[in-house]
Amino acid sequence: MARRIKRFFSAEFVIIALMVLTIGLSTFFFIKNIEAYDYVIETNAFFAPFEYYDNREIKGVDVDIVNKLAEKMGKTFQLKNVEFDVIIDNVSDGIIADAGAAGLTITESRAEKVDFSIPYYTSVQYVIYHRDRAPVITGDHIIWESLAGSSLGSQTGGTGYLFMSDEVESGVLEGTNTIVKGFDSHQLAADAIGAHIIDYAIADELAAKFIVEKNPTLAALPLYYSGTDGMPDEPAEESYAIAVNKKRPELLAAINEVLTEMLEPGEDGKTEIDKLILKHMGLTDE
Ligand code: ARG
Repeated sequence: MARRIKRFFSAEFVIIALMVLTIGLSTFFFIKNIEAYDYVIETNAFFAPFEYYDNREIKGVDVDIVNKLAEKMGKTFQLKNVEFDVIIDNVSDGIIADAGAAGLTITESRAEKVDFSIPYYTSVQYVIYHRDRAPVITGDHIIWESLAGSSLGSQTGGTGYLFMSDEVESGVLEGTNTIVKGFDSHQLAADAIGAHIIDYAIADELAAKFIVEKNPTLAALPLYYSGTDGMPDEPAEESYAIAVNKKRPELLAAINEVLTEMLEPGEDGKTEIDKLILKHMGLTDE
């Protein structure tokens, strides 16, 4: 009997038992870690005032919306910084992300892949240029035709990038030797102007204003489609919304509820979204 017990607790047994325990425990904590959040929301944190890094923390209007949502639903959310261009497909797959909050414009082709919340902001595209090398300006805006023959940059996969590619491939810039370049962020596209890599950058209105505010050599004006048959020039308006996986109706409903509240004008006529934009643009000291 004594011999049997001794063999039972042999060195090999102890080593194997410890290994099994270690593997078991690490698997447990790994799975626990994956399941630590109820929802994962992707963003691309180089798009102030909607999302930006402040030291190592992501802040911005979209972050405040997500925090409100977490509070309302009583659920935990992980906000993950990823490349802008992968957000819609990740949300569409629903495997590594449930939603995307990234100042995302509603477009037809994106809406085939994801559900969009109600819109919470309206934007237009701007042209960022160096003050010493401005394109032709028409009154208070720039028309696409004035960009002919230049090299243009924007964030890859963003609507600015998609619109400029459309104009160059089959629009008013077709056959004009206009070059299109993609960058990881609007900021990097704007930096490329100073570095003489591109002539102009195309960026969403507030992103453009935020960038030129910080760089006095740059300026930005809205980008318009020229009016035909005596019609005035006009910009293309875009609506921002939160993208949600098509199989998460409970999340979509909660987001719409939160946004509806945040879009309700207060006594001063301003909505919470308006105030958050001012705050994250650095225009109020809140
Ligand atoms: N509104 C544009 C779009 O949907 C640009 C959004 C860029 N957002 C970001 N977080 N980098 O394509």
